[in-house]
Amino acid sequence: MAAGRTPEHQDAEALSRQVAELRESVNAHLHRYHVLDEPELSDDAFDELFDRLVALEEAHPELVTPDSPTQRVGAAPASQFTEVRHATPMLSLDKCASVNELSAWQERCRRLLDDGDELRYFCEPKIDGVAVSLLYHDGLLVRGATRGNGETGEDITANVRTIGAIPLQLAGSPPPTLEVRGEVYMPIAGFLAFNERARRAGERPIVNPRNGAAGSLRQLDPKITAARPLSMFCYSIGDAAGWQPLSHSEVMQQFQIWRLPVNPRGKPCADLDACRCYVDDLLSKRDDLGYAIDGAVVKVDDFALRDKLGQVTRKPRWAIAYKYPAEEASTVLRDVDFQVGRTGAITPVAKLEPIFVGGVTVSNATLHNMDEVARLDLRIGDTVLIHRAGDVIPQVMKVLEAERPPDASAVQMPTQCPICAAPIVRPQGEVVARCSGGLQCGAQQRERLRHFASRLALNIEGLGDKLVDQLVSQNLVAAPSDLYALTKEQIEGLERMGAKSAENLLAALEGSKQTTFARFIYALGIREVGETTAAALAARYRTLDALLAADVESLQLVEDVGPIVAARVNDFFADDANRQLAKALHEDIGVTWELPEGADDAGAPPLAGQTWVLTGTLSAMPRNDAKERLQRLGAKVAGSVSKNTTQVVAGPGAGSKLERAQTLSLPIMTEDEFVAFLHDHLHERLNEHPDENSR
Ligand code: IVH
Repeated sequence: MAAGRTPEHQDAEALSRQVAELRESVNAHLHRYHVLDEPELSDDAFDELFDRLVALEEAHPELVTPDSPTQRVGAAPASQFTEVRHATPMLSLDKCASVNELSAWQERCRRLLDDGDELRYFCEPKIDGVAVSLLYHDGLLVRGATRGNGETGEDITANVRTIGAIPLQLAGSPPPTLEVRGEVYMPIAGFLAFNERARRAGERPIVNPRNGAAGSLRQLDPKITAARPLSMFCYSIGDAAGWQPLSHSEVMQQFQIWRLPVNPRGKPCADLDACRCYVDDLLSKRDDLGYAIDGAVVKVDDFALRDKLGQVTRKPRWAIAYKYPAEEASTVLRDVDFQVGRTGAITPVAKLEPIFVGGVTVSNATLHNMDEVARLDLRIGDTVLIHRAGDVIPQVMKVLEAERPPDASAVQMPTQCPICAAPIVRPQGEVVARCSGGLQCGAQQRERLRHFASRLALNIEGLGDKLVDQLVSQNLVAAPSDLYALTKEQIEGLERMGAKSAENLLAALEGSKQTTFARFIYALGIREVGETTAAALAARYRTLDALLAADVESLQLVEDVGPIVAARVNDFFADDANRQLAKALHEDIGVTWELPEGADDAGAPPLAGQTWVLTGTLSAMPRNDAKERLQRLGAKVAGSVSKNTTQVVAGPGAGSKLERAQTLSLPIMTEDEFVAFLHDHLHERLNEHPDENSR
């Protein structure tokens, strides 16, 4: 024991060490979660760890440090932002939009360089967000600032501190002063969820993810920013006190060591051909990235060459943005149609002057509901701003009022269903208006039949939309059960149907009777019950009788089923027509399914509790079929690899998910092994199918 050290001192030291360790552990898990997308702990386990830190800090406030993860939302609302002068200006980028322009840029670079200089590149997604500068002193985040005009921006330190992906304290040994630059963005899922909630609450939605990020960073109250889904990718340095990296690749590697978030798709490219491939490949993945991009950035990798190239008017010569088609465009609203959905929901749909946006031609856009039409103050003839991103249905974001023609006319909400003329009702507290015609409404009948026959439901091949329309309009079919009473003569009598196609349809109907319980439940078309919930219900109840007997309390015990979904399922089966339909299909018509194979005595299917990930191309079956087979065996099928993954199936061309699985030493199966596994467990032969959903 050191002289002069009392036991109290030792206790205090031990405690302070304990808090520091806990803080580091929480930070490491936050980094795994927000940056690496590889959580090691369940949410509950993480919360427990975090709460332990909170409790210790509350008991010993003197041990709280500014970089503690408990201190992300500390500051009180500000009255205004203060100005920040950037030590070195924040630049912008020159742009190009074709391969020829990209080659011309390389030529310009070559002319400024010497003969022996070898041009190598680094390509990255161009994130559609807000440029932000982060300043670290001795690894501690001391300031966050917006780009502003490039010379001066605004101090948004309190707001950037709330962003989980941004470390408050860097790991490793960063230089004493380090300015990091990058893009703060709003992930598309967060953007959609924000707007969904805003629309339900009758509030103004965010126009696009970039405005979402900008608006969130501009909040004077950091608590508001903290509640917004924001993240960041870092892509350059400003001031770096003595650290002199040789290349962008080196910076990106070093950033990762310090736990700064970098885009996982950034890639060194040896020559311009490799850059072209990168640009094409990234564009083809644009809809699947999970965040909005407006192009790719091609950068000269070598810093010595960057110095030789220099900059002109606030734009470096050593980088160029390759722009992709815009995801936003304006066009004229010609009319508003009202569509009647499977459950009677009336959706106003904007009929547009066709416009090319986000890489496709758009002539329809959803208007969600009449509240939204009112909120937008939409009139026919208006010029509207359309947004289409990430494979989502195009949306009307706002009206360009300055361009409103004098004869623009109001949108009238119909009072009667445009299909069956039944009154339209709007239950109190709901934003959605519905046709009250129920199953008497031709539109609801049609949509219900379409859903019943669709690929993820009973998958009745040959029963397309046109045929459904004819069957309903000729009063041959109203409910799904009527399909099985169709005769060859009836089908032959329809337009574009011959003896052969009638036989095929009857065979497909017969074949559809052998299905899975999950598909059967999904096919019934219960509100809010998608394929995943249907699979969970099937795994839990296993028989129709058990499902029909389930009450709201028991339903809520099913994975992913909350009070709303439980109420929907309960309401659905409380309706006698629905009960009768389900029973008729199963008991009279003979739509049946096998119980999950190999279920143990307690009824748990063999893969219960397991999480599988499918990656790469599957040639033996469409990915959805593979997923469904696994679900039938009780497994959960996840989209990303983590410590919690039980098994990865890697087809040809598997990329980052496979790499991650290897890093985590997870069990990996080839496609052949997977097919053999399914064969053993499901005792079924698998057909040859091209994979429709491979990535
Ligand atoms: S490098 C001097 N890399 O694009 C170069 N910028 O149009 C500084 N941006 O203001 C930028 N993703 O906000 C770079 N991977 C990326 C980027 C990126 C988005 C933004 C940045 C910049 C703007 C220029």
